[in-house]
Amino acid sequence: MRVLSGIQPSGRFHWGNYFGAIRQYIQLQEDPQNEVFYFIANLHALTSVRNREQLEQYTLDAAIDLLALGVDPDRAVLFVQSDVPEVCQLFWLLLAITPMGLLERCVAYKEKRAQGLPADAGLFTYPILQAADILAYDAELVPVGEDQKQHIEVTRDVAAKFNHLFGETFVLPRAYVLPEAAKVPGIDGQKMSKSYGNTIEVFDDPATVRKKCMRIVTDSRPIEEPKDPEGDHLFQLYSLFATPQEREELAATYRRGGFGYAEVKRALAQKAAEFFAPARERRQELAAQPQRVRQILADGAATARRKAHEVLTRAQVAAGVFRSPS
Ligand code: ADP
Ligand code: TRP
Repeated sequence: MRVLSGIQPSGRFHWGNYFGAIRQYIQLQEDPQNEVFYFIANLHALTSVRNREQLEQYTLDAAIDLLALGVDPDRAVLFVQSDVPEVCQLFWLLLAITPMGLLERCVAYKEKRAQGLPADAGLFTYPILQAADILAYDAELVPVGEDQKQHIEVTRDVAAKFNHLFGETFVLPRAYVLPEAAKVPGIDGQKMSKSYGNTIEVFDDPATVRKKCMRIVTDSRPIEEPKDPEGDHLFQLYSLFATPQEREELAATYRRGGFGYAEVKRALAQKAAEFFAPARERRQELAAQPQRVRQILADGAATARRKAHEVLTRAQVAAGVFRSPS
């Protein structure tokens, strides 16, 4: 199975990114049947990050973070989106046949307009660049969080239209979303997201994680009262790090009552710090070797380009776009 996913370097990764997407990247890479491609979507990030130093830094940080969290360059092709210019050529071939209505329905653009904010054409056409990312590698499976499902649907629609117009060219991909991590809540109970300022970062130091955990919003029920674990976002966060048995124990404690939320918050902070400790250590080692990281990205880009070139040629020939012999 060919697996592909991209992640924007628009800030440091948070727990939602890890449990919603990155953890699945690692799991899928472990299956020797899979051929996996992961990239850092710096062209997509340009729709929100407008500072050169920052974008460069975030891009390198994202690579270091992914490697530290377990993306293995011996098993996964890891690269930066802009190192594969074929994707932008494919982007146009797709854009040329994309109905406006398809993009007008997309959430990111709709939300911005609903807030009365001006939207750039880059944000409007963002899902088609994403479609090009996916189709350029004949990807079959795309591990993402729930919020990206719509973009995979758009990719399928556009690919099917291209195939219908010009003959079988693209593989239709499917989203791979794990239900239990589809939507990780933030400290305020809404979906954890950079845009809501409610995140806990994967590489926050333990003291910061603890501080943020203590700020998790809970109801004001007295200690002795029994509580319902279902739908409680503190419980949901704890469950991400806990074994099934620990989860059941906490659920029972909730139903019994007689505990304060602060205890659970402390336990959560402790578990999270332990969970990410090995990755934090690996991150330190990698951060001291930026040249090694750049080499991994360069090797990944070379492999990715070979595949993207093949698919782009197929699409150009299908659409009747002239190509000089190379
Ligand atoms: P953000 O919302 O913070 O800007 P991104 O849109 O960059 O995050 O998301 C990167 C990846 O992480 C996507 O695959 C997305 O679906 C996943 N993801 C982000 N936030 C969450 C969350 N709270 N729960 C589950 N998955 C998430
Ligand atoms: N839009 C995705 C996000 O915000 C990032 C992304 C870009 C992506 N291209 C992709 C994800 C291709 C999966 C496949 O998270």
